[in-house]
Amino acid sequence: MDYQRFIEEQIGEIKKEIGDGVAVNALSGGVDSSVLTVLAHRAIGDRLKTYFIDNDLMREGEPRAVVKSFADMGIPVQLVDSRREFLDALKGISDPEEKRHAITDTFYKRVFSRIVKESGAGVLLHGTILTDIEETVAGIKRQHNILEQLGIDTEKEYGYRVLEPLKTLRKDGVREVAKELGLPMEVWNRIPFPGPALAARIVGEVTEERLGIVRRATAIVEGELGGSGAFQYLAVLLNDKATGIRDNRREFGHIIVVRCIESTDARTATATELPWERLHRICQAIVDIPGVNRCLYDLTPKPPATVEYV
Ligand code: XMP
Repeated sequence: MDYQRFIEEQIGEIKKEIGDGVAVNALSGGVDSSVLTVLAHRAIGDRLKTYFIDNDLMREGEPRAVVKSFADMGIPVQLVDSRREFLDALKGISDPEEKRHAITDTFYKRVFSRIVKESGAGVLLHGTILTDIEETVAGIKRQHNILEQLGIDTEKEYGYRVLEPLKTLRKDGVREVAKELGLPMEVWNRIPFPGPALAARIVGEVTEERLGIVRRATAIVEGELGGSGAFQYLAVLLNDKATGIRDNRREFGHIIVVRCIESTDARTATATELPWERLHRICQAIVDIPGVNRCLYDLTPKPPATVEYV
């Protein structure tokens, strides 16, 4: 594929669709939304209003780091604190699909409807890619960013139109476009991180306390495995507890699962054969998190397991 041509065509298309109006988009810092932001900014400049929605489900320091890296590229991003709203929406929910639904609804119906109204924009630009559409339509998983393909009339339900300039590309194509656009390597080489973010890594209810635990475990795993060359690595908090012993006392503590996989497209995967020593280091750091007394390494391939737990 001629990616330079793809870029020119999409810039032309965005210009044509938005005219002299305003468009909004949400940036998560992942490769899809980053590419979309740069493309759209090239097309309509400051008439693109980009928002980073802090839903409290992101990794340590992520909201500010993403905003700063785009500011360094000359693209202003507004940070919106929606933490309370998302936590309230997730309260009491344990079912995986219901959790995804609560996040999607809070995002599009509440937070974004408000932002779109305030900004006067009629269009939301969206970084949907082909795989998101395929997996949702096939009923494998309701992806965070799929709307029209599920029969949702965004104009009627949310009050804005959605444009999806990347919907003919797969992840490898998006990475090529990112390189062509001159995005830094940290962006196009970033490990995948799911739309529902840390909520996809908490089995059971998402609460502030449980988010805090999985966020710390994630930072440990990413710190240790950053240079491993693995396709993806993550930490998951189970919805169960185990008996342990700390300071000579019985403790009923949380259980963290570490997952590290080899894959080319995330459609199939196998567990990485990590050195024992490194696994021990990760385990030790994870059981130092207060309230966590067990750390497991997941050996299951995909299929039958998926990469994420929710
Ligand atoms: P699964 O868990 O389905 O994950 O084996 C396959 C790949 O997709 C990522 N993933 C998601 N990405 N929204 C996303 O943007 C989602 O809802 C979502 N769920 C999973 C996952 O991290 C893995 O790389």
